Amino acid sequence: MASKSKFQAIRGTRDLLPPETALWNHVEETAHSVFATFGFGEIRPPIFEPTELFARAVGGETDIVSKEMYTFVVGDFDRLIAWREFVSNTNKIRDLDELDIYERSLSYLHRFVQEFVKNGHLPDDDQIRTTLAAVQKTMSFVGAALIEGRRSNGLVNLDELDREVENAAIAAGSIRPGEQISLRPEATASVCRAYIEHNMQQLPQPQKLYYIGPMFRRERPQKGRYRQFYQIGAEVLGGVDAPAIDAEVIEMVMTFFDRLKLPGVHLEINSIGHAADNCRRGYVALLKSELEKVKDKLGADSQRRIETNPLRVLDSKLEHEQSIIEKLPRIADYLCDDCKTHYAAVKRELELRGVFYKENWRLVRGLDYYMRTTFEITAQGLGSQNAVCGGGRYDGLLELLGGPPTKGIGFAIGEDRLILSLQESQGASLATGHRPPFVYVAWMGANAYATAVRAAKDLRAAGIRAELPPTESKFGKALERASKLGAQYALILGDNEVAEGTWTLKTLADGTQQKFTEPHLLDFLKKM
Ligand code: HAM
Repeated sequence: MASKSKFQAIRGTRDLLPPETALWNHVEETAHSVFATFGFGEIRPPIFEPTELFARAVGGETDIVSKEMYTFVVGDFDRLIAWREFVSNTNKIRDLDELDIYERSLSYLHRFVQEFVKNGHLPDDDQIRTTLAAVQKTMSFVGAALIEGRRSNGLVNLDELDREVENAAIAAGSIRPGEQISLRPEATASVCRAYIEHNMQQLPQPQKLYYIGPMFRRERPQKGRYRQFYQIGAEVLGGVDAPAIDAEVIEMVMTFFDRLKLPGVHLEINSIGHAADNCRRGYVALLKSELEKVKDKLGADSQRRIETNPLRVLDSKLEHEQSIIEKLPRIADYLCDDCKTHYAAVKRELELRGVFYKENWRLVRGLDYYMRTTFEITAQGLGSQNAVCGGGRYDGLLELLGGPPTKGIGFAIGEDRLILSLQESQGASLATGHRPPFVYVAWMGANAYATAVRAAKDLRAAGIRAELPPTESKFGKALERASKLGAQYALILGDNEVAEGTWTLKTLADGTQQKFTEPHLLDFLKKM
């Protein structure tokens, strides 16, 4: 008999199981409590958003948006898209059979577009009418060419046919059915969208918001890098861009890590200035020209980045590029006066708060929205994926998303990595919070069962962890199971105990037994 194949979690995703989930809850509870002391409130944005939101916020050229997003089209457009692709990829038809198939694909495409317009899945606008007309025109031409071709046993008028096929290809390519949505690769864009959507600029400023939840990036999975991973992030939106805010946000993450006793925490900071000719733009132009001079010595990725985003070359981890990068001009020397002053003040504010940092002029981050302060935090025990938190300032991002001019700064912690680091360093000594039952209600007999159900209910109502076996078993078996589960006590309820009204409580560690009346037993356990 053929065996049925088993399902497995999709590559890069995983199940978080007890008792580990208790550690996750502990981390999240600590975040709720520490962030609340800094005046932050929780926001829960949706897990998917329009693709365009991330493209505009994070940047269309970034790895995250160009390679790693899970994007899909909403609606049943598969067949329409298949015909669109066929028509828009066809060129130079040179035999009758091909032309025959092509004619049919045109008529399917035409029919589907009309159908989708009729049921409202495509807009009934000028553009779609022009598209339909173009497809129709090519269809008529091809129909006539087929009749003519069959008669003369070959294709005629090839130049005109090529032109018509190309026109239809262009028309088909312009059909964009459905809304593209993406699973969020990060949440800063969503928080900014929500701030604009809910007119939060009218509330007291700044708005301090934090979130906890899954993010999705199609990266190559490895230790500490997943395709569904979790972030704990916070954003401060609106108000002023006082350096004290940058410092306080960083202080908050460090306090959180401190509370969790995260080992080997190491903070690096930088300022990448702002987008102006006398600041970052000027520096990037200089960097680009310096990189051109050493282009031949760089790897393919860095060579490509000279064109797309020269700053990202500074991020390179390639061994042979390090000595070259070290000789490049440094952004700190090219910041405008305002950005320089801001950066110096951020450092002073950090010192005032007792936050230790190291400056790293190569810290540029992989998302486009940053300006001025950027920072990253690494922790112990994570191997190559050791960045446990990244963040920075992003004044101007809200305007880019159609909102009012608004200051912004925030960070996101990789929760999976945070947990890994805690596990590696503290191992079994971690208070996981997942605890075995306190009382195992061992029952035998129909009368005893009704009492056992009531006893379990009363114990749980009193906040005591109680385990009630769903089926009857001999006391010997029940006690064995209670010990296996790690329970402290077994409450022994047989028909005799119930009839007498005295219940036996067995301490599993030493086997001693005590007898109680029902109210006394509850009192005794509540005091434990
Ligand atoms: P990010 O640096 O892309 O920044 O991500 C922040 C953190 O998320 C990383 O430092 C890392 O710990 C974790 N992380 C990223 N990708 C993965 C992955 N594939 N698997 C496991 N963990 C991962 C942001 O996302 C920005 N939105 C941070 C921010 C908020 N900046 C301002 N506000």
